[in-house]
Amino acid sequence: MSARIIDGKAIAATLRIQVGAVVPALPGQPTLAVVIVGDDPASHVYVRSKVKETAAAGMRSLHIELPADTAEAEVVARVKALSADPDVDGILVQLPLPAHIDPQRVLDVIDPQKDVDGLTDTSAGRLALGKPGLRPCTPYGCVVLAKSTGEKLAGKNVVVLGRSILVGRPAALLFLAEDCTVTIAHSKTRDLAALCRSADILVPAIGRAQFVQGDWVRDGAIVLDVGINRVPAPEKGEGKTRLVGDVAFDAAAARAAWITPVPGGVGPMTIACLLRNTVLAACDRRGWALPAL
Ligand code: GUN
Repeated sequence: MSARIIDGKAIAATLRIQVGAVVPALPGQPTLAVVIVGDDPASHVYVRSKVKETAAAGMRSLHIELPADTAEAEVVARVKALSADPDVDGILVQLPLPAHIDPQRVLDVIDPQKDVDGLTDTSAGRLALGKPGLRPCTPYGCVVLAKSTGEKLAGKNVVVLGRSILVGRPAALLFLAEDCTVTIAHSKTRDLAALCRSADILVPAIGRAQFVQGDWVRDGAIVLDVGINRVPAPEKGEGKTRLVGDVAFDAAAARAAWITPVPGGVGPMTIACLLRNTVLAACDRRGWALPAL
């Protein structure tokens, strides 16, 4: 079998266009605040894209950049102020934070109504309880991509690799909400290869370049590769790099029915879902009618 490619770039572009189409019809302009602490280059690239795409969708954004040595109390105070600001609809604190800052202390002061990343206790609790709420963007994007195949999700065996707060755990709960049978694998899981081979939908989110081997993929599986890993690419010239996923793509694509590429698969969905969440958060908090998104 040779897998069909799930074009996350195109699906994300469609969602961004849908968001951009509803924004002008809202009674006011939603505002997203993005907070980044420190100078991790990859994080700055992501944050700049988030700010740019927010504007492209017709929304306002506040881009708050704090130096790497900012005290935890200062970051907490800045996020608290955004939570209290009636003009701010969504707050995103880019992770990871510098080592001296406990991310939980910062996430804990995000007003849950503005939690467009879906990372507060309230959002995570609501997801775990099967209640409506703001969902973490990357795993929500994975479910959208799985649905884009047209395959019925109910009853499928889903194996999520990784138990992070940002992706693994919420991905498992979101697929459970689609009536899938879900297993979360992690670093202590025994016989990972056999477990992966049981997956109708495989969702690797561990950040290890090409870790999932082709023969771990079941014939006809859907592979949603969340990993974005930079590896040396001497074939492009000395010192050059390229991005690869957590999956050995060519070998996996020979067996899967559907697979996401890296780049251009899951990655672009994160921002599109963030824009969607910003509109939903603004409408919910301000009492505006919820658009169908
Ligand atoms: N770092 C990498 N991905 C994300 C994300 O989706 N949200 C936040 N806050 N930080 C990230």
